[in-house]
Amino acid sequence: MESHYQTSSRGCSGASFLFLLVCYTFLASLASAELHVHEFVIKATPVERLCKTHKTITVNGQFPSPTLEVRDGDSLAITVINKARYNISIHWHGLRQLRNPWADGPEYITQCPIQPGQNYTYRIKIEDQEGTLWWHAHSHWLRATVYGALIVYPRLGSPYPFPMPNRDIPIILGEWWDRNPMDVLRLAQFTGAGPNVSDAYTINGQPGDLYRCSRPETKRFPISPGETVQLRLINAAMNQELFFAIANHQLTVVEVDSAYTKPFTSSVVMISPGQTFNVLITASQDPGHYYIAARAYNSGNVAFDNTTTTAILEYTNAPRGHSKIAKVYPVLPGFNDTATTTTFINRLRYWSFNQNAPAFPVLPRFNDTATATAFVNRLRYWKIAPVPLQIDENLFFTVGLGLINCTNPNSPRCQGPNGTRLAASMNNVSFVLPRSNSVMQAYYQGIPGIITANFPPVPPVQFDYTGNVSRGLWQPVKATKAYKLKYNANVQIVLQDTSIVTPENHPMHLHGYQFYVVGSGFGNFDPNKDPASFNLFDPPERNTIGSPPGGWVAIRFVADNPGAWFMHCHIDTHLGWGLAMVFLVENGTGQLQSVQPPPLDLPRC
Ligand code: C2O
Repeated sequence: MESHYQTSSRGCSGASFLFLLVCYTFLASLASAELHVHEFVIKATPVERLCKTHKTITVNGQFPSPTLEVRDGDSLAITVINKARYNISIHWHGLRQLRNPWADGPEYITQCPIQPGQNYTYRIKIEDQEGTLWWHAHSHWLRATVYGALIVYPRLGSPYPFPMPNRDIPIILGEWWDRNPMDVLRLAQFTGAGPNVSDAYTINGQPGDLYRCSRPETKRFPISPGETVQLRLINAAMNQELFFAIANHQLTVVEVDSAYTKPFTSSVVMISPGQTFNVLITASQDPGHYYIAARAYNSGNVAFDNTTTTAILEYTNAPRGHSKIAKVYPVLPGFNDTATTTTFINRLRYWSFNQNAPAFPVLPRFNDTATATAFVNRLRYWKIAPVPLQIDENLFFTVGLGLINCTNPNSPRCQGPNGTRLAASMNNVSFVLPRSNSVMQAYYQGIPGIITANFPPVPPVQFDYTGNVSRGLWQPVKATKAYKLKYNANVQIVLQDTSIVTPENHPMHLHGYQFYVVGSGFGNFDPNKDPASFNLFDPPERNTIGSPPGGWVAIRFVADNPGAWFMHCHIDTHLGWGLAMVFLVENGTGQLQSVQPPPLDLPRC
């Protein structure tokens, strides 16, 4: 079942252009800002995928979870009622939550988790934000199945900076385990080795044609000849950057992480966990069926799920009856090899009588960092960006993996490389979540012993980060550390990947902020040379940016949102290993620059 959650009287999207005009004109006559009230009941629900039914943690029994549709200026009141057996909290990924960290959601950072049997109401105000965002559980691995789209339409009467598409289609990419994801996590936490990779990727909750027992439920998206549709792409996968493409169709990128871009066309999108892209496609091809497909971009030397998820773009004027042919797919050998798969499937199409089998898109090789980087580097803010130019806080953070040595390397708890436990860190600090309270509560109430504000602004030891790092530098220190920022400070952070264990793309997400990505490169950042090539004119605005594998990326923002804000790798495995830190942004002067008082129903630990 597609779970599209109707939020209010607003039903303009998904209509013809003429109807849209009438509809929006009608809505424009109504009062503008709305309050959207919802209940999210968290509960285990049977969900069948890959021939097996699992008791899956869902919102309101739906998988995938409800889509929220709101408008800039609106408010949300979402009461989360926990009827599951796990603690949970919900994060509204990309929403700035100005002066209101209490509604941000990461457990033990801005709130204690909502315990089984308890409720909490997230009170959210959308202020000067529009575009594609999403929401997800921020507690252990529950976000594997608890996630949904959050679409913020522009204020009434304010158009997109590009021609209005005929329709929107949200496409949310996910990752499915053929077991309870919480058990996958628990096993990995016990052994210290990497968690099992997923068994499937999904498009709007469905794996698609290339997986067992999945064909009949493959997502199909009808499209009328000539129309232009805006795909709202979200990567909700737990642990994997993905390449996304549609056979025979160019994708015009117009928005990234809820910020508009200068439009450009590409045949493929690389999207990391946490990121969103809006792309326009036009139904300009021969009437027919075309595969939409996504599979891994894997930048590190680590195990990954090498399967391919598909959906089908169906022209409404296409001849019928491709199902006979498609039955052949499950016996296709080696479909993780692009060249073979593409040729093989396209030949099937050629041999068929009616040429109705969908064409398959060409996806880059799994480790095609050149294509991934070239794509990301094409992003530009849609107009001149108000990038901070005078930097008050010049920060340099290493991001990467590590190994914790064991006294007994043969212990069942030390099954990482060479009898160690895998870890990850920023500036050699492997972040540990507090247990007895949240960072934000401790900060607000001045409770000592929860977090210390001594996160290092630069690595404690300088070394050749992307070279052959000596083993003495592989072991991080576990701690709960934050970095303090003055209100309105202009901040630059260079995020430097290390080659410890493996160089890898780390999609770094900052809560409470959007930032500008002013530069990036491979190898070690050179503070004397690299800033000269920064784009301070129209750099893309984002909330999640990957460090190139074995490289660096530089971001800038103004610390104008007081509170405790998590910064972490959006690969959940790495987050669990400690690839995270917290910014404590101080209040400015007066109420409008200060954190609001906490709500009365804020959960207790
Ligand atoms: Cu979408 Cu802290 O994450």
